[in-house]
Amino acid sequence: MADRKRRRISALNRRRAEVIEALGRQEWLDRPSYRFENVLSFAFNSFGSARNRVTNFLNGVWLGHPVHPPLASLASGVLGATLVLDGIQVALGERPEAHHAGRLAGHTLGVGILANLGSAATGVTDWQHTHEQDRRIGLIHGMLNLGATGLYIWSWIQRRRHRHGRAQLATFVGYGISMFSGYLGGHLVFASGIGTDQSGRRLDTREWTPVIEDAALADGKLHRVVVDGVGVVLARADRKVAAVGEFCPHLAAPMVDGWVDRGNIVCPWHGSQFDACTGEVVRGPASAPLPCYQARTRNGMVEVRGAGRPAIAGDISPVEIVEEVAG
Ligand code: FES
Repeated sequence: MADRKRRRISALNRRRAEVIEALGRQEWLDRPSYRFENVLSFAFNSFGSARNRVTNFLNGVWLGHPVHPPLASLASGVLGATLVLDGIQVALGERPEAHHAGRLAGHTLGVGILANLGSAATGVTDWQHTHEQDRRIGLIHGMLNLGATGLYIWSWIQRRRHRHGRAQLATFVGYGISMFSGYLGGHLVFASGIGTDQSGRRLDTREWTPVIEDAALADGKLHRVVVDGVGVVLARADRKVAAVGEFCPHLAAPMVDGWVDRGNIVCPWHGSQFDACTGEVVRGPASAPLPCYQARTRNGMVEVRGAGRPAIAGDISPVEIVEEVAG
């Protein structure tokens, strides 16, 4: 019995993996998706000097992680409530309480539509830097959500016209589409790590470890060293030494290929900027901070140490982040 159940689950998992793989192979989606990205860049650039503020808001820099998942959860919750209320209305038939259930369903549907629109705006900012399979699956995810949102809007209009039967059917179909689309979104987060902090392992040793001659940083470039098995990137920024994690929290770009610009460390792939002293995000698309360690110079050597405990996502060394370099 248990064996049969296990076989059924593994067959189901295989089928799911096949569906995801098949969607990820749809290369014909690449051309429209890159065109769409150009349109997005144009739209963001049209904000001029407010561009960074707008994109940082949509990327979730203020929240420390992407805004899309909580908005998607809100949409899913209130739209699910709409389905339940629709079911109650149908079950109550001609009774007066049915009218209240119908009215409430209209309200929750309205909130669901707004949450879906917000979720779309924040979702495209997460999606626009993905590539290949993730990009194609993300595009399908977005198109399905768009289709479902269209049905919800149509359903809302029908409710206003008291055509409840067709409105409830549209919500029901839309929710089915949203469920499948949500599964694809879950794959992007949990299997591909889109939207998760990808900065990798943190340095937690409390011991000061000499890593490189101070003079080696004079070239203004970023240098990678390994401390206690953990990669650390060093940079001279404003006569100080900064020590940060080796991978960008956004999509794990090697930060050693980046550069320092006016006190910020810049990611080489998508241009996220992090304060060299604290690791805080100055400009997205990264939303989580870059791990930041303590650094000092002693006898011409740069020494580095961690926070003395396993760092958690978004953790920042609380004190003495950098030390003035003599000379
Ligand atoms: S990997 Fe995308 S901003 Fe760094």
